[in-house]
Amino acid sequence: MCGIIGYLGDREAYPIIINGLKKLEYRGYDSSGIAIFYENGYSLCKTKGRVYELEKKIYSCKIKVKGTSGIGHTRWATHGIPDDLNAHPHVSNSNELIMIHNGIIENYYSIKVILLKNGFTFKSETDTEVLVNLIEYVKKENKFSLEEAVRISLNEIVGAYSIAIVDKYNPETIIIAKLGSPLALGINKKEFFIASDPIPFIDYTDNVIYLKDGEMAILKKGEELDLRKILDNHKLNPIIKKLQINLKKIEKGKYKYFMLKEIYEQPKTILDTLRGRLLIPKGIICIDGIESHKDIFINAKSITIVACGTSWHASLIAEYLLEKLARIPVEVEYASEFRYRNPIVKEKDVIIVVSQSGETADTLAALKLAKNKGAFVFGICNVVGSSISRNVDAGAYTHAGPEIGVASTKAFTAQIIIFVLLALKIGKYRLSINDNQYQSLCKELGSVSEKVDHVLKVNQYIKEISKVYYHVNNFLYLGRGINFPVALEGALKLKEISYIHAEGYPAAEMKHGPIALIDKNIPVVIIATKKVCYEKIIGNIQEIKARKGKIIAIVNEGDIQVSMMVDHVIKVPETSEELSPLVTIIPLQLLAYEIAYIRGKNVDQPRNLAKSVTVE
Ligand code: F6R
Repeated sequence: MCGIIGYLGDREAYPIIINGLKKLEYRGYDSSGIAIFYENGYSLCKTKGRVYELEKKIYSCKIKVKGTSGIGHTRWATHGIPDDLNAHPHVSNSNELIMIHNGIIENYYSIKVILLKNGFTFKSETDTEVLVNLIEYVKKENKFSLEEAVRISLNEIVGAYSIAIVDKYNPETIIIAKLGSPLALGINKKEFFIASDPIPFIDYTDNVIYLKDGEMAILKKGEELDLRKILDNHKLNPIIKKLQINLKKIEKGKYKYFMLKEIYEQPKTILDTLRGRLLIPKGIICIDGIESHKDIFINAKSITIVACGTSWHASLIAEYLLEKLARIPVEVEYASEFRYRNPIVKEKDVIIVVSQSGETADTLAALKLAKNKGAFVFGICNVVGSSISRNVDAGAYTHAGPEIGVASTKAFTAQIIIFVLLALKIGKYRLSINDNQYQSLCKELGSVSEKVDHVLKVNQYIKEISKVYYHVNNFLYLGRGINFPVALEGALKLKEISYIHAEGYPAAEMKHGPIALIDKNIPVVIIATKKVCYEKIIGNIQEIKARKGKIIAIVNEGDIQVSMMVDHVIKVPETSEELSPLVTIIPLQLLAYEIAYIRGKNVDQPRNLAKSVTVE
């Protein structure tokens, strides 16, 4: 992971870089650093910790930050602990080359051994310091230009990278290159902005080039961009795109944390995801990516869905939806497992990849593997123009807007909406769903945003429940049927932001093991809404109560039976079974948020995590 940024032009580089780094912290925030260049020299500052720590250090050490070119980095540790030495930028042995890197150099160790034999020394444990010294070695041994040395060295690299490198004697040139990790280049007439995504430079330009894998660019102040293929130095024509990002959407507004804002945005997210795709009065669903590949979906013998984390949970919900409504067998796979087990994928098989960021390394690799085997790959992504969205055969954007909180919330509900539309559309094509069922689900989809809005109003009571349980060490989350993945997602939300251990389980599986955990100290969150195995869940509740477990139940409004048996009830409006995850997940997101908040955690940037997992 990690975020990289750079600037070359006529403006002061420092404010652009430091502010840009703050916007990239979602990619990692365990250390950060900058280098600002001036004639024949540079200032370097790096530190363990967040970007504001870096700012403090620059200020207190009176570091000179005047200069019109510079690079910066915010890190999520892979090689070496988060500390000042391992923070980027990294400098070559001669102090001449300065580099930032996002990705992983898989063969760094064998290169390091060769460099050590040739007298190089290393201050950090990082793979990046190995690469910058390899470039120096190649440059000096062969008397190559920096650009040639970068190209030759990168051809020796196994792994993933987006890099920016500067020679201190030539600070008006920055060389960037990409393989596997994202890299966006903003361009104005006389200046270049480099970043892992375009958000840091949208204030300055809306012209963007997304470098493709295997491309490098030589950026020279005041000159035209020179784009090349890393493999053979072949000159390429850059494709400039226009950015369409609304800055207002990425401010916290009245909310203390982005996560809370994003939870509260979900009624709107649902409407945005449905907009233009569902015409309720006529019951028409339009999804381009499906319509233009109608036959593929009609004839699909099975569908494999590949994703990670929260997107994987949304995919488990999709398994219920697609099997029920479209009657197609569905397998849901973790991208990291799928890509390494030589999966059986045949030509024209249908694979769906799901990713909020569209940059998750394992999901991207799974996509490429499936495409190499001839599969048809459909993508569901939130970030427009992301690597995954650019590599699929067809797809649908979730239109949830920028999700900044590391814990995914609104992207999850948006993914479910896309899957409901998909299942209905394919079900209609395959005649596996009758007209009444189809029309009533379309109608229900039209009112689900209001129901979610209604659930958000129960927040006050969730705060009370959080005060009772914020200190416990373990939580259990139970659900059945389509709400079992919701239990998994609720548990994931709690553990990632509050650091309380939580497990999600299908309620009936409890007696095959987890029931041993239950005593008066363990709170059990159980989704007990009508329509999804209600009677069976009542049996499970009795089992927990018999062992003195504390129960927080998510029930439908008007419920009496469960409400009388449990310690706390959170009421949600009734909806169809297919749409119930959209309302049942809301109290679980709020519960996780409130507990983490009371525990004083940094909700938006939990420890050890990053928003975009661009390393495997
Ligand atoms: C959890 C969370 C992660 C992501 C996972 C996949 O709240 O955010 O589990 O869901 O890293 O990320 P995407 O969807 O960007 O591929």
